[in-house]
Amino acid sequence: MTAKHILVSVAWPYSNGDLHVGHLAGAYLPADIFARFHRLKGNKVLMVSGSDSHGTPISVEADARGISPRELFEHYHRRFLKTYQKLGISYDLYTHTDTENHHDIAQQIFRRLLDKGYLYTEAQQLLYSEKQSRFLPDRYVEGKCYICGFENARGDQCDNCGNLMDATQLINPRNRFDTADSLVIRESTHYFLDLSQTADQLLTYLEGNQERWRPSVINFTRNMINQGVKDDLRGRAYTRDLDWGVPVPLEGWDGKRIYVWFEAVNGYLTAAVEWAKNHGTPKAWQDWWYNPDAQTVYFIGKDNVPFHTVIWPAQLIGVGRLDEADAPAALNLPYDVPANQFMNIEGQKFSKSRNWAIWVPDILERYQPDALRYYVAAAFPETADADFNWESFVTRVNNELVAAWGNLVNRMLTFAYKRFDGKVPTYDELTEADTAIIAQSEAAFEEVGALLEKVKLREALQAAFGIVREANVYLDRRAPWKTIKEDPADAARSVYAILRVIDNLKTVLAPFLPFSAQQVHEYLGYEGQLFGTLDIVEYQESTRAHEALVYDAADAIGRWEKSALAQGQALREPAALFVKLEPSIAETERAFLGQPRDEHDI
Ligand code: MF3
Ligand code: ZN
Repeated sequence: MTAKHILVSVAWPYSNGDLHVGHLAGAYLPADIFARFHRLKGNKVLMVSGSDSHGTPISVEADARGISPRELFEHYHRRFLKTYQKLGISYDLYTHTDTENHHDIAQQIFRRLLDKGYLYTEAQQLLYSEKQSRFLPDRYVEGKCYICGFENARGDQCDNCGNLMDATQLINPRNRFDTADSLVIRESTHYFLDLSQTADQLLTYLEGNQERWRPSVINFTRNMINQGVKDDLRGRAYTRDLDWGVPVPLEGWDGKRIYVWFEAVNGYLTAAVEWAKNHGTPKAWQDWWYNPDAQTVYFIGKDNVPFHTVIWPAQLIGVGRLDEADAPAALNLPYDVPANQFMNIEGQKFSKSRNWAIWVPDILERYQPDALRYYVAAAFPETADADFNWESFVTRVNNELVAAWGNLVNRMLTFAYKRFDGKVPTYDELTEADTAIIAQSEAAFEEVGALLEKVKLREALQAAFGIVREANVYLDRRAPWKTIKEDPADAARSVYAILRVIDNLKTVLAPFLPFSAQQVHEYLGYEGQLFGTLDIVEYQESTRAHEALVYDAADAIGRWEKSALAQGQALREPAALFVKLEPSIAETERAFLGQPRDEHDI
């Protein structure tokens, strides 16, 4: 099998506050599991993302704190890097949208769309704040949704029906932050992306993806395109009246910027280019972007769907290729967009303003990264909204991760280490039960692999844990701690078999639990790292430097391959993999919800 190029494209979080478990469940953890799986398979993975540094979510928060948007986003960008590093979210490059590289390419995309006739100008009647003497950015506006009737739709998107909004069409628009503000309509000229030119091509492309895409994603997208065409909505505003963002690269457009969403989605391409440059192979990004066999998979939350399945593909179709001179083909359209639903907290929706949130840097101070990864992955909102519940966090971590998997590993490695002279036992011949459990753990590569491939990650984890449970049943039946007295040869067989099962499960679980998989690998006596390392680095461009997170595969030896555990292999002295949780933590943790939070240094 030849290696495939897989671009793992991950949503770019607004850099205006810490990461919370909703982010993790929606996009970052699924992306990481998928990327690690494909790296083990020997595929050529490029996992990219960065901090979204523009847009009114940044300006609003910066205004509230009396600091500049740049100071604000750099502060959280730095915290994101450390949080990902601690949790093992293995971006090949995690950068941000305020780099020269990103500005240049976003402007290049704008210019090409303009040259090729996909953009047109139109005078818009916009909401203008007399008090602030400026056009009010979308996110400052709130009103009734003109599609579903939801009372508090934002100027850019309705949180109830998910549709993109045109702020001026909202019913009874008001300034969210100042009810005394009186909004008037004023004219301003903007560029629009003409979606009607790409609608047919987009629909055809959706047809081709029916099988693979999640029904919620394909249905939403199809409706949006059909609706848009029917309603004769020609375009979406590409530029905005703002002073923070990527400048419109034309004379006389000062005071206007490219709309944040339209440049942020370009990041998947700009980050790949940046990655290639920084690695001294400036054209290497083309292997993912122009190669028709490459797969580009987008990990995002459901509220991001329209930008990734309509806007970004429309830009890609319009642009065609980045640099005419030596571009071999058209830029790849998304292969899959496995958008997740939301993860609520203790039955309620995430809310930053009420601090109804679980902040990732905070809980990483108290829990092991693999415990958090396990619980969130076991509850991934792949088909419906999920709930982060502290009671079930404790139960699932204790009963499943610690009792079923951790104890299995710990008991048997300790037993082998102590009773078999620190070595993998040697045996004469295996019993049928022994070969059966080994075969079952080997079958996991197919079964779990197929689910991972289809981005059914929750099911994949369940399937792997099904085998963990089978292994426990097998062990109770074989009971080497009893047979070692009267029949040591039989004990040796069963201990060998279970170590080999553990070795297989270690690999199958590695995408989910990379830290503890590495420990198991070492206890089994192997050398080397299953995965590479994550480093925070500084890149210097001509006018400024920026920090980034970079995955370095180095000489990672992890492979999606069955164990060939050698008899007599020297083991290393094992220690417990996981910490068992106190039931009382559920209450302690719940007490933080809805209370003011201190942001600790990380
Ligand atoms: N910043 C957006 C959010 O946090 C996501 C942007 S994804 C991108 O919801 F692709 F547009 F960058
Ligand atoms: Zn709505």
